[in-house]
Amino acid sequence: MLERVIDLFRAGDVAVLTGAGVSTESGIPDYRGPGTLKRARTPIRFADYMATHANRARYWARSMVGWERFSQAQPNAAHRALAELEASGVLAGLITQNVDRLHHRAGHQSLVELHGALAEARCLSCGSFESRASIQLRLLRDNPQLHARYDALAPDGDAALPDEAIDGFIIPTCEHCGGVLKPNVVFFGENVPKERVERSYGIVDRARTLLVVGSSLTVFSGLRFVRRAKERGMQVAIINLGQTRGDNLADVRVEATAGTALQTIKNALSLH
Ligand SMILES: NC(=O)c1ccc[n+]([C@@H]2O[C@H](COP(=O)([O-])OP(=O)(O)OC[C@H]3O[C@@H](n4cnc5c(N)ncnc54)[C@H](O)[C@@H]3O)[C@@H](O)[C@H]2O)c1
Ligand SMILES: [Zn+2]
Repeated sequence: MLERVIDLFRAGDVAVLTGAGVSTESGIPDYRGPGTLKRARTPIRFADYMATHANRARYWARSMVGWERFSQAQPNAAHRALAELEASGVLAGLITQNVDRLHHRAGHQSLVELHGALAEARCLSCGSFESRASIQLRLLRDNPQLHARYDALAPDGDAALPDEAIDGFIIPTCEHCGGVLKPNVVFFGENVPKERVERSYGIVDRARTLLVVGSSLTVFSGLRFVRRAKERGMQVAIINLGQTRGDNLADVRVEATAGTALQTIKNALSLH
């Protein structure tokens, strides 16, 4: 089956859509993998984040604890193979649903971060940005009692914490205006900015093939590109461990580990 995907790459103009499954080999858990279902938690919804100070304190306390490991994750074979495929000119573009910046760190030049990135936060009042690394220093300075006490990592870089750990937690606010800071990622219950969706459709529209790697396609946000590709009569290939919501639309379906499969594709195209 992978042979068929390699043939599609030989024809060129491949749009790639990646999900959490390309980063599990870097040690960042996904939401819906075979081993994840039991401990899956519901990520924070936008309305809840906005609703109360206590909800934001919980979010940032978890985030502070989870960040140490999340930010130390390194790109893996999947990210590297995609960056090399990009450099060789066979990609029409990359759309990622991940918020971990690992494609950039592997040297990928051009991509759409559909759901944003945890590496930065934005003030909801004045719009200014602050890097997550800088916020982490403030979090650690203001909340030394939490430091290094808990380290269970949850998928998007936040960690499970007992209620008492949140008491007295000081949340970071905008350094310019005191406004509410929000990580620059699309929370559940929020829409992906229109311009990002349009840029992503643009990538699909100039491609011959759409390859989905490491995504369950549970969220419409990613599934819509598979639908678009089929509407345009394109070939759709999926490389994933386990079922996806796009399987019935796929022309080729490969049950494989992202890193191994993408390295095999890269090697078959003689890119070393
Ligand atoms: N790394 C991250 O940035 C990260 C991690 C978790 C969740 N999220 C966010 O949550 C949403 C989750 O949706 P999603 O579809 O991306 O992820 P998902 O968790 O719904 O699905 C991931 C899929 O990848 C498969 N998988 C796991 N490891 C794999 C591997 N090594 N090779 C191949 N397949 C593998 C799983 O079985 C699962 O079907 C995303 O939109 C993202 O914003 C991001
Ligand atoms: Zn501000």
